[in-house]
Amino acid sequence: MGTEQRVIAILGAGGALGGALTRQFSSESPAGLVLSDISAPSLEATIAGLSVDGASIETAVADVSDFQQVEAVVARALERFGRLDVLVSNAGVPSPNGRIHNLTAEDWERAFRVNVMGPVNAIRAAVPAMRTQESGSIILTASVAGLTAWTHASPYCVTKAAVIHLAKVAAVEYASDGIRVNCVCPGTFLSAMHVDLPPAAIDAIAGKHPLGLGMPTDLVGAYSYLASDASRWTTGSAIVVDGGYAAP
Ligand SMILES: NC(=O)c1ccc[n+]([C@@H]2O[C@H](COP(=O)([O-])OP(=O)(O)OC[C@H]3O[C@@H](n4cnc5c(N)ncnc54)[C@H](O)[C@@H]3O)[C@@H](O)[C@H]2O)c1
Repeated sequence: MGTEQRVIAILGAGGALGGALTRQFSSESPAGLVLSDISAPSLEATIAGLSVDGASIETAVADVSDFQQVEAVVARALERFGRLDVLVSNAGVPSPNGRIHNLTAEDWERAFRVNVMGPVNAIRAAVPAMRTQESGSIILTASVAGLTAWTHASPYCVTKAAVIHLAKVAAVEYASDGIRVNCVCPGTFLSAMHVDLPPAAIDAIAGKHPLGLGMPTDLVGAYSYLASDASRWTTGSAIVVDGGYAAP
């Protein structure tokens, strides 16, 4: 079985990757889609032009760093569709450009609040319902930044490394409950995260990807796989989709 007839919730459904994931899942005949983001305009941009029947979509503005708001998103899925099969934790923020000693405690705390506590809150919120169902797939968006060391982006790298390990720990913790937990590690695709970078910096990043920069649509196959029964024996994995960035 693919993702057809599944109830899928996406946290961080706005933005470049969230929009592409929403379009992909909405094309796979889900029983229900719950789309959430901290930014209402970003969420509206994702929903605009979706071909799926509006009756099978719920939206919610929610901040992933606030457990109660994430719990409310899950509750929306359960109230409206009666179950939650797949939860994608996709919200993330970059960190300011700076070396470790020049970044502030707030720079670090913001990265941990969104990039780590977001996925933690997603797991905490989804697990009770998925344990009752004895099934579920939780997919976390990490990054190749969690596998390789970059300068001037330490909070981002460290928090994405934490996401990769969180997926492993949660996978082991919940396997006996029928819940799989995996993450995807994308290489670079242009998004709002890169708006402040000069063209020379973008070119330098592109040059480190043997296949060049990716597109958000290059990532969606990995999420579809993890959301479907094709991945029924896959848990605790970090699936790297990066145009060869991490290969050297
Ligand atoms: N763009 C890349 O090159 C790249 C590479 C690897 C991983 N990623 C990861 O992919 C994910 C999506 O990033 P993107 O590039 O599409 O960026 P984006 O900025 O286009 O989208 C990020 C979305 O997350 C939302 N968001 C931010 N903070 C939030 C919060 N506290 N609660 C709820 N939503 C929040 C934003 O409103 C936005 O809609 C992120 O986790 C990012 O770290 C991106």
